[in-house]
Amino acid sequence: MTMRTAVLIGLLACSLPVLAKGDPKAGEQKAMMCVACHGATGNVSVPLYPNLAGQHEEYLAHALHAYKKGERSGGQAEVMKAYVSGLSDEDIDNLAAYYASQKP
Ligand code: HEC
Repeated sequence: MTMRTAVLIGLLACSLPVLAKGDPKAGEQKAMMCVACHGATGNVSVPLYPNLAGQHEEYLAHALHAYKKGERSGGQAEVMKAYVSGLSDEDIDNLAAYYASQKP
């Protein structure tokens, strides 16, 4: 592999999650399993759980991947890890798009 190819692959790998746009409608279906803690629209009254509504789509997807990969761990993050372990990359994009589209 040439240096140029390596750099190109690196750039692609970094830019893909940013370019990824999920489907909010599909995300809404998946969000059924998140309602108990994050509320139907990602707005929560329980201070222990973070609001997700209106958060940046890229950030939400990044956070979900981090839980899945174990990069966010310990304490309450373990709770999230259990819920995202069964999600596909597409599910994560869709969920991120759904919550990002909700009014905070
Ligand atoms: C049992 C309660 C519970 C369920 C169910 C749950 N979460 Fe969470 N979620 C939490 C808690 C607690 C945190 C904070 C974890 C931490 O400290 O990192 C969190 C954090 C998050 C974050 C990070 C927010 C931020 O600002 O960094 C995202 C995104 C998220 N949840 C999405 C989801 C999605 C999507 C689902 C459904 C697939 C889901 N959660 C299901 C409790 C839950």
